[in-house]
Amino acid sequence: DARRAALKAEIKSLLKQRNAVLVAHYYTDPEIQALAEETGGCVADSLEMARFGRDAEEQTLIVAGVRFMGETAKILSPEKTVLMPTLEATCSLDIGCPIEEFSAFCDAHPDHTVVVYANTSAAVKARADWVVTSSIALEIVEHLDSQGKKIIWGPDRHLGSYIAKQTGAEMLMWQGECIVHDEFSAQKLADMKALYPNAAVLVHPESPASVVDMADAVGSTSQLIKASQTMDNDTFIVATDKGIFYKMQQLTPNKTFIEAPTGGNGATCKSCAHCPWMAMNGLEAIKASLGVTYEGHEIFVDDSLREGALIPLDRMLNFSE
Ligand code: 13P
Ligand code: SF4
Repeated sequence: DARRAALKAEIKSLLKQRNAVLVAHYYTDPEIQALAEETGGCVADSLEMARFGRDAEEQTLIVAGVRFMGETAKILSPEKTVLMPTLEATCSLDIGCPIEEFSAFCDAHPDHTVVVYANTSAAVKARADWVVTSSIALEIVEHLDSQGKKIIWGPDRHLGSYIAKQTGAEMLMWQGECIVHDEFSAQKLADMKALYPNAAVLVHPESPASVVDMADAVGSTSQLIKASQTMDNDTFIVATDKGIFYKMQQLTPNKTFIEAPTGGNGATCKSCAHCPWMAMNGLEAIKASLGVTYEGHEIFVDDSLREGALIPLDRMLNFSE
């Protein structure tokens, strides 16, 4: 409608005035992804977002995603101004992995290499030897396992179990989970598969093992998008945040994408395949982040944490390049 069009036009002009670029995740709402594309920003998975932010020439990054993505951008580019539509956009994995307890867990197993998912605070990253995202986790753990390393993994237990199963690595697991993916139901998925026998099942590995076991392809958001392009099927059942449908549909408009069912055992879903924190990145919030002052939107990371977190983040980026 006219109001939204005016809002978008205002944001476009503010981005130019402030020498700012929009970096959005595939789970944000379609109009945010479209805006990032129209304005020369990027829509990406968490690894690509980190790389794009680091390499961007603009002085200011608007990170439309969740807090750890803004912090990662700041850690990699301390000289840039990193803004977020809202600083309230967190992640259940980050919440479920407080530094004091995680650090005590690591201290209790000093002979283990600490590998943490990107979905963590700067403090947890600073305690780690490696940071990984879901698109590179398998390769990094394979590499560590081939060197005979024992691993502490945190915080996502489902992603950790999937990687341990694939690699055979010895992994001590922190018991965190993503509230969105944890809700996919294997039992309901089996019923859905029976209705669409020719559909391929695409699953993000933050989902429970029972759902991952039914997948035709497992991977990060960018890997699932690639699978939707390269696999011959014309129908896909997709177990990840529904924001991803924007890009899948854009790349292959002739294919059909169906949401995998959530809420097992008679329970109704809470997040219903859309992350409540990703959903906070609306147009109004983006405009507010480009206000006269950046108060309430700017990301700051304490210097000592930043230096500590940069080491395992750079390790990941160098490994993947
Ligand atoms: P990826 O985009 O790296 O697959 O991450 C998924 C996710 O949950 C980010 O919040
Ligand atoms: Fe965290 Fe899950 Fe939301 Fe991603 S989708 S930000 S893992 S709660």
